[in-house]
Amino acid sequence: MKLDEALDISLRAVDREIQNIVKYDKDVPRSSTLAKSIIDQIQSGGKRIRPLMVIVGSRFGKPQDKRKIWQLAAAAEFIHAASLIHDDIIDNSSLRRGQPALHVKLGVYEALHVGNYMSARVIELISTYSAERERYAYDLSSLVTTQLCIGEYQQLTHLYDYDVTIEEYIEKSKNKTAQLMASCLRIGALAAGVDEATADLLYSFGEKLGISFQIRDDILDFTQSSEKLGKPAGSDLRHGQVTLPVLFALEDEPLAPRIRAISADTPSQLIDPVIAAIQQSDALAKTEQLSKHYLDEAAALIDQLSAYPAHKDLRVLLDFFSGRDR
Ligand code: FPP
Ligand code: MG
Repeated sequence: MKLDEALDISLRAVDREIQNIVKYDKDVPRSSTLAKSIIDQIQSGGKRIRPLMVIVGSRFGKPQDKRKIWQLAAAAEFIHAASLIHDDIIDNSSLRRGQPALHVKLGVYEALHVGNYMSARVIELISTYSAERERYAYDLSSLVTTQLCIGEYQQLTHLYDYDVTIEEYIEKSKNKTAQLMASCLRIGALAAGVDEATADLLYSFGEKLGISFQIRDDILDFTQSSEKLGKPAGSDLRHGQVTLPVLFALEDEPLAPRIRAISADTPSQLIDPVIAAIQQSDALAKTEQLSKHYLDEAAALIDQLSAYPAHKDLRVLLDFFSGRDR
């Protein structure tokens, strides 16, 4: 069953709310390339994990204003979609969800403006909720985006850095991936009147899921076929990203110098056998174990929230993240 169905949330309603951000934008005519590009970007697919997490968070309380929850959910997807435009430019990825990435269609400069506009627009929209007593909305619009940028920057500064530690990798993954998901659960809860302590538990749960999500993504880069990935297996390492499977492979003494020899100038065909050796090593199993460790920690947090009927939705999320195939 799909995640939205398992959570009994209408994906069409989520999508409608996201599209409303563009539809009711007074500054951008709907016939403009900017509006069309945003709609195109949003309609290109995605499981809407983050908006669904906002709605799940809200189920831990009694929302006075349901509209606000939906708007926050839509805003979360908008931030995510904007970040992917930038990410594909940074990663020089030409495909996103099987379609040409926006920078391939529009060129890098125009795509950058679309991404910038989307993230700035969300901050403007959400600022209407940013009175002191609704500070969580401010957290979503600006702090989350700041952390995303910090995570990307941390990744960039450690390219081809084979001495990066597992702690630094986890820290980067929190910033780049986990904190947005965690914040979605937290702000959904706070917007529905949930107390801070419960909202913080939901944040921790989302953070654990998010870290495991990023670790899984980094495993898939080695295990999925190039057809499914839309890029050659091991692309992260080919682009200098020292992800968790590589960090574990560096513990293998004969393999370590072969990995360390990879630089930006190494031809792809010389990297192929190193990728194959990583695939055959025990690095992927060790990585999988650490991903499972975070899922186990998330499962333990559900027990602390079992007084809330909505804790069942956390199990649905946990099952989805455990068997996820992005
Ligand atoms: C996917 O990573 C990308 C992210 C999780 C976040 C990217 C964030 C930025 C580029 C910061 C800029 C953001 C804004 C809103 C201004 P990935 O490359 O590991 O995953 P992929 O395989 O899906 O590309
Ligand atoms: Mg990328």
